[in-house]
Amino acid sequence: MNIPRLSLIQSLIDKNQYTNYLEIGVSIGTVFFRIKCKNKIAVDPEFGFSKFKVLTRSIRLNNPSNLSARYFEKTSDDFFADDAKRVIRQKLGVCLVDGMHEYAYALRDIQNTLEYLSDEGVIVIHDCNPKGAENACTYNEWKQRGFTGEWNGDVWKAIVYLRSMEPSLNIFVADTDYGLGIITKKPVETLDPLPFKSFEEIKALDFAELDKNRKEWLNLKPKEYLNEYFKTDIKFS
Ligand SMILES: C[S@@+](CC[C@H](N)C(=O)[O-])C[C@H]1O[C@@H](n2cnc3c(N)ncnc32)[C@H](O)[C@@H]1O
Repeated sequence: MNIPRLSLIQSLIDKNQYTNYLEIGVSIGTVFFRIKCKNKIAVDPEFGFSKFKVLTRSIRLNNPSNLSARYFEKTSDDFFADDAKRVIRQKLGVCLVDGMHEYAYALRDIQNTLEYLSDEGVIVIHDCNPKGAENACTYNEWKQRGFTGEWNGDVWKAIVYLRSMEPSLNIFVADTDYGLGIITKKPVETLDPLPFKSFEEIKALDFAELDKNRKEWLNLKPKEYLNEYFKTDIKFS
């Protein structure tokens, strides 16, 4: 199955021998069930699978790590408030942030994850580079149109926020899979921070402004840059 975020995450786990993987927003487990890693944690307020499905998927995908994985059927905010301290005993190697696709939620997920990320770890954020305004709308607008079309939300604003306020983090978006945001703690590129000064100022930005500035604001890179950056050999189609 050629899913760029899946190939990237598994390559990082294999190459760096990460033992701890967290996925925020799991849905039917398309990515989660395929990831092979010693300790896996799944968080979603509404899993799209039963316990029986965990068993059958583990067998069919030859991936017993799904049986020992921990499943938290709750929001990521509740997970971080109630469980994370107890459950994440060793720092995370990789986290996929793919839960509620709205600015405030995505930003909280990233900030909470950073507390538990190892110094060499990687946060991968899905849906950071929406193509059109209809893909970048609010959850309520998407709901009003009957959940039709592809929805990326305004996760991109979390990237803009962190690129403005957290210059010590290394942040870019790879132009693949609706925009894979990448955050690592070790600075590699020296970039000037973006000029925004507050959460609210960024919240007020609209899609047209992103469209004009996406290369700079997202630090947008071609997908091949992932292999250069991580020294991996992922085959992108
Ligand atoms: C796009 S799907 C995730 C897809 C999955 N990561 C994959 O790659 O196959 C988004 C999921 O986020 C979940 N979600 C919505 N609000 C959430 C929240 N507050 N915390 C965690 N997950 C949430 C939804 O229930 C949905 O299953």
